[in-house]
Amino acid sequence: MKYDIKSIKLAASGKKRIEWADRDMPVLRDIREEFKKNKPLKGIRISACLHVTSETANLMRTLKEGGAETVLCASNPLSTQDEVAASLVKDYGISVFAITGINNKGYYKHLNAAISIEPHITMDDGADLISTLHKKRKDLIKNILGGTEETTTGVIRLKAMAAKKVLEFPVIAVNDSYTKYLFDNRYGTGQSTMDGILRSTNRLIAGSVFTVAGYGWCGKGTAMRAKGMGANVIITEVDPIKALEAHMDGFRVMKMNDACKTSDFIVTVTGDINVIDKHHFKSMKDGCIIANSGHFDVEINTKALKKMSKKITEIRDNLTEYMVGKKNVYLLANGRLVNLSSAEGHPACVMDMSFANQALGATYILKNYKKMKKDVYKLPDNVDSNIAKRKMRSLSIKFDTLTPEQKEYLSSWQIGT
Ligand code: ADE
Repeated sequence: MKYDIKSIKLAASGKKRIEWADRDMPVLRDIREEFKKNKPLKGIRISACLHVTSETANLMRTLKEGGAETVLCASNPLSTQDEVAASLVKDYGISVFAITGINNKGYYKHLNAAISIEPHITMDDGADLISTLHKKRKDLIKNILGGTEETTTGVIRLKAMAAKKVLEFPVIAVNDSYTKYLFDNRYGTGQSTMDGILRSTNRLIAGSVFTVAGYGWCGKGTAMRAKGMGANVIITEVDPIKALEAHMDGFRVMKMNDACKTSDFIVTVTGDINVIDKHHFKSMKDGCIIANSGHFDVEINTKALKKMSKKITEIRDNLTEYMVGKKNVYLLANGRLVNLSSAEGHPACVMDMSFANQALGATYILKNYKKMKKDVYKLPDNVDSNIAKRKMRSLSIKFDTLTPEQKEYLSSWQIGT
């Protein structure tokens, strides 16, 4: 088995972390048991480019139990948990190409190693695998039945490819399942972003002015948690509907130009570039802490920040001080996603549902690829609600069902006032 990891000696602690996460992933465990019995992925090769965390390890175990041959590479150079990578190789016999802190060349070397197995299915978080296959390894596309995509940013890239008619195989947008974005994006990002900020700074949130750029599901979750910790939250938005929603949710809405002057913290979760730019750094409040929790490290213009700084000092892990004029601003995790670089990503409880979608997305492709077009698809609603039902069962929460009379009422149109 081929692999490239930091050290195989880290496996013992990685295994404990994987097992700890698994205790809070009952839906994925359930699917793993079914996969073990039915082997729906027998003979299928899967290349996965995901954050190498203990939660992802449990997805890889599930795919392997389903009969798949899998290779995992990292979807971000800073998010790899090296002990988890070691345990996947040593204890679970899964090929991993991932080392935390790897440079850009090494990152793509790993990605190429992952696709060298000539996959039938790709699994992406950010669409780097699919993008590389389409740009550089078109020769491998003929074997591919379909792919899955984990995150909003990746889905946006893939929809752009489909619109330009360059996408060569169908892709399941896992992100677009309710059991993904309503939980992972909102509660997962909300908690893990605060976790990353706290681990890097140990600053008090209560009483601070905390700006969240972007009021999508990730922004909503982050704003909700910052408010819950006592911050005075500001939202910046470009979409008038989301801006209005933020206003009616009780947040102050303003332009970044104004928000940056008073903020103690600014977090970007927009999916777009240069949301915090040169002119913002200039007018920022002294001591402002800035972080990005969007997928790519493009939301904060770190190049401009480096260029305009008179002095750059590493203060502690993932916390860098930039002297801009007479002021200091503090950048977390070099502008890479703070929740996975400074903390451990979303808790297992929500990744349980995201990765249940991934596992069932793979089997959906196998059953349906012949009738799917070269397009981006959502998983059917019955798969989505089946995941929610399993989660509810695991939580021992009972809920109502429609009576026959209520069902009939909902499908009738004659009864009115
Ligand atoms: N994305 C966000 N959190 C994650 C986690 N814990 N594992 C894998 N991918 C993630």
